[in-house]
Amino acid sequence: MKYIVATVDEIPLGSRKIVDVDGRSIGVFNVGGEYFALLNRCPHQGGPLCQGNTHGFLRSAGVGEYYYSRAGEIVRCPWHGWEYDLRTGQSWFDPGKVIVRRYEVAVVPGFEGLAKGPYVAETFPVSVEQQYVVVEIGR
Ligand code: FES
Repeated sequence: MKYIVATVDEIPLGSRKIVDVDGRSIGVFNVGGEYFALLNRCPHQGGPLCQGNTHGFLRSAGVGEYYYSRAGEIVRCPWHGWEYDLRTGQSWFDPGKVIVRRYEVAVVPGFEGLAKGPYVAETFPVSVEQQYVVVEIGR
């Protein structure tokens, strides 16, 4: 099922919106114009993961050399600092075992009938002038 969770304007670059979809709390992030969605529940002890700070990677190839990459693509849980990749849901320390649920996100233009068909709009009316952020929840 696909859920309309926001207008594009509601999640500007570098921001996020926490939404309730079908009984789940989900964080939808806009990182450089790409959208990512993760379950707002940390696998460690259930903390509100998507309220945490985001950052990237600082790497070094040697003394005095460093580069920063993937800005904003890593979220740190506000409770104990476990870190997760927004792109994959994998944890940083044990990516093979500790993974947070992620969801597909798409931007769709408003059109007549958008809130029907495969889409569910629970919170607001849909207009043809807007673009919408849609999260897909599998069963
Ligand atoms: S609950 Fe998220 S790091 Fe502990």
